[in-house]
Amino acid sequence: MKIKSADFVMSNSDVAKCPNEPLPEYAFIGRSNVGKSSLINMLTERKSLAKTSGRPGKTQLINHFKINENWFLVDLPGYGYARVSKKDKKTFQKYITDYFLKRKQLVSAFVLVDVRHAPQKIDMEFMEYLGENMIPFSIVFTKADKLKPKAIEKNVTDYLNELMTGAWEEAPNHFVTSSSKNIGRDELLAYIDEVNQL
Ligand code: GTP
Ligand code: MG
Repeated sequence: MKIKSADFVMSNSDVAKCPNEPLPEYAFIGRSNVGKSSLINMLTERKSLAKTSGRPGKTQLINHFKINENWFLVDLPGYGYARVSKKDKKTFQKYITDYFLKRKQLVSAFVLVDVRHAPQKIDMEFMEYLGENMIPFSIVFTKADKLKPKAIEKNVTDYLNELMTGAWEEAPNHFVTSSSKNIGRDELLAYIDEVNQL
């Protein structure tokens, strides 16, 4: 898919105020600092469309980006960020879960996990939550530039195997990406294109 336009539309913390347009949307979720905003920039070939930072907790709101005038990419705050207060964490999570439960335009989520790490409890729980609520998702392994191909292959296989010893009978659809080395862009966009045609 060619990206002809990618425009920031709005940020907010209330799903009821998200764009009132019946366009399909795809949301990026995962732990703070995993690379959600960087992935959106890689996909759109816009260097700083979504704000990124080396410090976790950069994205704080639900951010809508309109692509090619006919679908949305949604950048979300990360979960599992320890430095926000307990109360903030609750409201944080409430509007994220509200987004997933109430947003009718949501077609599919991408759950990002760092390819260097074994499955973490918080990610497993979040995927289970999506499954229980029948929200389709794919796993996106990030930061593939940090490992050699053999190690990537092993980590991905181990990760999917571990998921399948848990709640999942079938391995979820998955992608291997690197935003700094532009890996996985074509595959991810082709997938979105395919789902948009359904
Ligand atoms: P929050 O908004 O805080 O939840 O983080 P995020 O998931 O949006 O992460 P962000 O895109 O801001 O990236 C976090 C850090 O990881 C930044 O320092 C990025 O430069 C770095 N990063 C993101 N993607 C990659 C990647 O593919 N490779 C490498 N090496 N670094 C990456
Ligand atoms: Mg972010």
